[in-house]
Amino acid sequence: AKFAIVDIDSCIACGACGAAAPKIFNYDDEGLAYVVIDENSGTRKIPGRLVDDLYDAFEGCPTDSIKISNTPFNASPIKVK
Ligand code: F3S
Repeated sequence: AKFAIVDIDSCIACGACGAAAPKIFNYDDEGLAYVVIDENSGTRKIPGRLVDDLYDAFEGCPTDSIKISNTPFNASPIKVK
């Protein structure tokens, strides 16, 4: 299983991840990306059919803000405004 989060502190709101993986990433009102399925907490596995898109986004992020792990991140969920 793959888990993912966006490091919001380093995301520069470039928008590439949502283009590569629109089912995984969305943006808050400042354009910062987050993982939609678990409010960026990294607690729910990325559906297998989306893992290729996840890696496309991972490789395309200019600031290496997308983090992928085999185990959950258990980060604090963001509040999406
Ligand atoms: Fe941010 Fe990287 Fe996406 S900079 S908007 S996480 S491609």
